[in-house]
Amino acid sequence: AAADPAKGEGVFKKCAACHKIDGSNAVGPHLENVVGRPVGSVDGFSYSDGMKGHGGDWTPENLFHFLQKPSAFVPGTKMSFAGLPKPEDRANVIAYLESLEK
Ligand code: HEM
Repeated sequence: AAADPAKGEGVFKKCAACHKIDGSNAVGPHLENVVGRPVGSVDGFSYSDGMKGHGGDWTPENLFHFLQKPSAFVPGTKMSFAGLPKPEDRANVIAYLESLEK
């Protein structure tokens, strides 16, 4: 099935405890325009060394792998979230984030 941003909005409730999408930082960096953004690049957010040194961009593929198990994709990450084991949840939340892009 194709990724569904409306279902992704529901999945995002798990992320919203730590992430805002209005451009302001919280426990985690804001996720406005995150798809395509360089990893660890939000000004004023204090990233872990692992995230700062990771490199690359948050392509849909990288997000898909990161969200399966954040600590595996970014060793030393301070994102305390076990991940989204279901591939469809990951695809849907990425589609939701992409749908917000300006
Ligand atoms: C980092 C997404 C859940 C806390 C990140 C990054 C992404 C992301 C893409 C990297 C951003 C960047 O490089 O600027 C998500 C999504 C979630 C989720 C889609 C839900 C499925 C959470 C939760 C928490 C959290 C529940 C808090 C318990 C953080 C923190 C960072 C981070 C602290 C910075 C990590 C570091 O510097 O190592 N998140 N996140 N996230 N997230 Fe999340």
